[in-house]
Amino acid sequence: MLIEKNKSLREYNTFGIDVLAKAFVSITSDEALTALLKSYKPKDLFIIGGGSNLLLTSNIDKLVVHINLKGISVASETEDMVILEISAGENWHELVMYCIERDYGGIENLSLIPGNTGTAPIQNIGAYGVEIKDVFESCRAVETLTGESRIFTAEDCKFGYRNSVFKNELKGKYIITSVNLRLTKKNHELNTSYGAIADILSEKNIDKPEIKDISDAVIAIRQSKLPDPAELGNSGSFFKNPILNKAAFSSFRSKFPEAPFYEVSSSEFKIPAGWLIEEAGFKGKRYGDAGIHEKQALVLVNHGNASGLEIWELAQRIQKRVKVLFSIDIEPEVNVI
Ligand code: EPU
Repeated sequence: MLIEKNKSLREYNTFGIDVLAKAFVSITSDEALTALLKSYKPKDLFIIGGGSNLLLTSNIDKLVVHINLKGISVASETEDMVILEISAGENWHELVMYCIERDYGGIENLSLIPGNTGTAPIQNIGAYGVEIKDVFESCRAVETLTGESRIFTAEDCKFGYRNSVFKNELKGKYIITSVNLRLTKKNHELNTSYGAIADILSEKNIDKPEIKDISDAVIAIRQSKLPDPAELGNSGSFFKNPILNKAAFSSFRSKFPEAPFYEVSSSEFKIPAGWLIEEAGFKGKRYGDAGIHEKQALVLVNHGNASGLEIWELAQRIQKRVKVLFSIDIEPEVNVI
């Protein structure tokens, strides 16, 4: 196991923030991970996956452990479905492309989401009407304290909107090493409910879409409004869309009848944070190298050499302004370290 000292983490976070890890190790086997966990205390380790949901505001005075486990295999299959076992370090979008090539259905709406497969369940990644929980079978994770491995079912994971047990009571206690997804081999259940997907399909006169058509549509939508982290550092949506109860929603709606919203249940209403931030006047603004994307106000960007603190200060400025204008608290979706 090669342990590097004072390593820049710039390439390991999609914001492209240049902080130093006191020590750094890349893990490529389950055995190496178990050995590492047996010789270090959890508090001395900092685990990193694809680095796509992370804002680093200072150097990391710990051993940074990059989970780089690779491999995709068929765990079981029938004529109708397949369960794939995917190692945690596999890039999520490459997995989606692997499934499209083989006509495995279920994750086509989740095309082009940055990050790795092992971290996808932690925040229950979602887009265009689909979340990973919809195809999740189980995952294997090792306990950081003991190095022992355990299987988590979907129920054990307690998935919610951008949420799971791994962000709450088990935060920092387990490292996911592989994920099993249940995908369809035929009679795919396509989700075209999201307006922009339906628009693209009808523009192209596709009335019987294949999963590849959905994936292509999602890629086109994302490329039209979300910046590519390889060109402009970012972490996707920086904030979660706030959910208001009925009383807060009616008061908000009476003042801002034009605001878009989604009804989550009869007592919960989700407001697009992107709309709140745009209304607050931040869309496309730039403060030094920290900015707000010009096409999607929910995405904070690093124009080059912003520090994590500069981005965090901008995020807090946005939070305060949104609170003053709309009496709504918006919470970060990314992990701020
Ligand atoms: N809007 C604005 N201005 C903006 C952005 C959005 O007014 O600058 C309003 C528009 O009314 C728009 C509505 O917000 O119709 C919704 O926007 P969009 O469809 O872009 O979705 P979102 O709510 O901003 C969420 C997810 C995205 C996911 C999309 C599509 C969260 C925090 N974000 O964004 O996820 O791709 O829906 O399903 O739930 C991510 O998590 O990193 C991410 C990109």
